[in-house]
Amino acid sequence: MSISSSTSIEPIGVITCKAAVAWGPGEPLVMEEVEVSPPQPMEIRIKVVCTSLCRSDVTAWQSQAIFPRIFGHEASGIVESVGEGVTEFEVGDRVLTLFTGECMSCKHCTSTKSNMCQVLGLERKGLMHSDQKTRFSIKGKPIYHYCAVSSFSEYTVVHSGCAVKVSSRAPLEKICLFSCGVAAGLGAAWKVANISEGSTVAIYGLGTVGLSVAQGAKLRGASRIIGVDINTGKSEIAKAFGVTDFINPDDCSESVHQVVKRITDGGADYSFECVGDTETITTALQSCCDGWGLTVTLGVPKVTPLISTHYGLFLSGKTLTGSLFGGWKPKSDIPSLIDMYLRKEIKIDELITHNMPFEEINQAFNLMTEGKCLRCVIHMPK
Ligand code: APR
Ligand code: ZN
Repeated sequence: MSISSSTSIEPIGVITCKAAVAWGPGEPLVMEEVEVSPPQPMEIRIKVVCTSLCRSDVTAWQSQAIFPRIFGHEASGIVESVGEGVTEFEVGDRVLTLFTGECMSCKHCTSTKSNMCQVLGLERKGLMHSDQKTRFSIKGKPIYHYCAVSSFSEYTVVHSGCAVKVSSRAPLEKICLFSCGVAAGLGAAWKVANISEGSTVAIYGLGTVGLSVAQGAKLRGASRIIGVDINTGKSEIAKAFGVTDFINPDDCSESVHQVVKRITDGGADYSFECVGDTETITTALQSCCDGWGLTVTLGVPKVTPLISTHYGLFLSGKTLTGSLFGGWKPKSDIPSLIDMYLRKEIKIDELITHNMPFEEINQAFNLMTEGKCLRCVIHMPK
């Protein structure tokens, strides 16, 4: 019978495409032809449309030991093929990738208190969650993943729990920012700190993450938003995101936490660490007030992961808490943030300082290393 030949589903094959491979720490990425495996059960293969460079990519590229590797974790794309068992996605769906996924059924996913999925949480070994293997190779040799996303490739494979469908009205070249930095900042302000109207806020580090915290604080009606950055060039854009007072610690004759305490009558109600430096975590904690002061960390420390601080800070009632992806449950919460953007209630376009073709990806790494950009959006070939 020949019926089956016209109705059978074509087997999904290996794709060969261009990817920007990091061969060693701090070495410029090299455009390579890589083989991308078909999606395995519960996975999807995505044609990446746009991907932005985040500071965490740069931090990991400079310091981590897993190579060769494909970085990139803020991305938008279109589903190219789906693996066995996937019912949530169809070929052609527009999606955002998620560096921390949501399985929807583990202890954390079913709790309202957490977004730390036990099954599809932050992947640190450069492998896929399901089988601890890679989906990329060059001449049969594995190329490792980053956060199980690896969007610096024309095609990538992610678990279906590490992607979310997005509105057909949402511009893919803009909304990739919601995959990490913008959502992390807004969520830290709204969900984790739950900033109340009239409060005072101090934000350390005014990159995309810190500016998104500022935007979140402004929308919550914070009365004073103090932005701290060693780069005075950030003060102008900071105003546009709601920062009312800019401080460059290098220009101060006293320590910056003393300045914050002085201008806020004893300390800010909330402080945020958006640099990725453990000493700054201590400074942020010292800047918030006794009794109810809350410090939220968002940064990923570059060098030492240990923090040291005087226990007396806690004795006086301050709280230190961490946040990953702003506390959002990624699949459940991201569509509503995108809707807010489409209603012009959240701005992200102003955070995109550069657009560039995929071939120029090393330029984005240079700009971020030199502190000359907020987000560079990298456009994949059509
Ligand atoms: N004090 C204040 N600001 C600082 C300091 C410091 N000691 N060191 C650096 N900065 C500023 C930089 O000048 C820059 O404006 O912090 C800002 C960091 O911004 P980006 O490099 O653009 O980083 P971003 O993408 O916003 O991420 C911030 O959050 O997700 C994590 O890994 C990420 O740790 C990183 C942090
Ligand atoms: Zn889960």
